[in-house]
Amino acid sequence: MNKAVTLLFDEHEIILEAIEIAKGLRDSIEKPEVYERKTSELILFFREYADKYHHYKEEEVLFPEMIKANELLESGVVKEMLDNHVDFREMIREVETFTNSKNYEQAQNTLEAYVEALSDHIAVENEEVFEIASTLFNEKELENIFFRFKDIDLELGENNKESLREKLGNIRTI
Ligand SMILES: [Fe+2]
Ligand SMILES: [Fe+2]
Repeated sequence: MNKAVTLLFDEHEIILEAIEIAKGLRDSIEKPEVYERKTSELILFFREYADKYHHYKEEEVLFPEMIKANELLESGVVKEMLDNHVDFREMIREVETFTNSKNYEQAQNTLEAYVEALSDHIAVENEEVFEIASTLFNEKELENIFFRFKDIDLELGENNKESLREKLGNIRTI
C-alpha cells in the first residue's frame, strides 16, 4: 500500500477499536453514571477523530481528487461514502440526545446501529475505494495526497490526535 492509503487505513484501524468499545457498552447500561461517562467519551472520539480528522481528509482531499480523475465516481461509490458521512453525524447527534434524556436503551440501540453502519462503510473503503484510488493515481499524485493529509493533521494538531487515541484506550477502564 502507498503512504496516502496507509494513513487512512491506519486511522480506520483505530476507529475500529472504538467500534468494539461501543458494542461492549450495553453491559454498562445498568450503571447510568458509567454509561454516561463512557458514551460521552466515545461521542467525542467519533466526532473528533473519526469525523474531524478522518472523514475530513476523505471529503477535502481524496474524494475530490478521485472525482477529478474519474467523474463517474461522483455519482457512484464516492457519493455513497459522502452520504454515509452525513448520516453518521446525524446518528451521533441522536445518541447524544438519547443519552442526555437518560434513555440509555435507545442511546445504545442507536450507537450500535451507528457502529454497524460505520464498520460497513470502512469495509467498502478498504476493499473498494482505496483500491480504486491506488490505481487511479501515479506515485507523485499519491505522494501529494499524502502530504495534504499530513497538513490537515498538523493544522488540527497532531498532539490532539494522539491524545484522542490515548483517551480511547482509557475508556475501557473509566
Ligand atoms: Fe469515509
Ligand atoms: Fe474512511
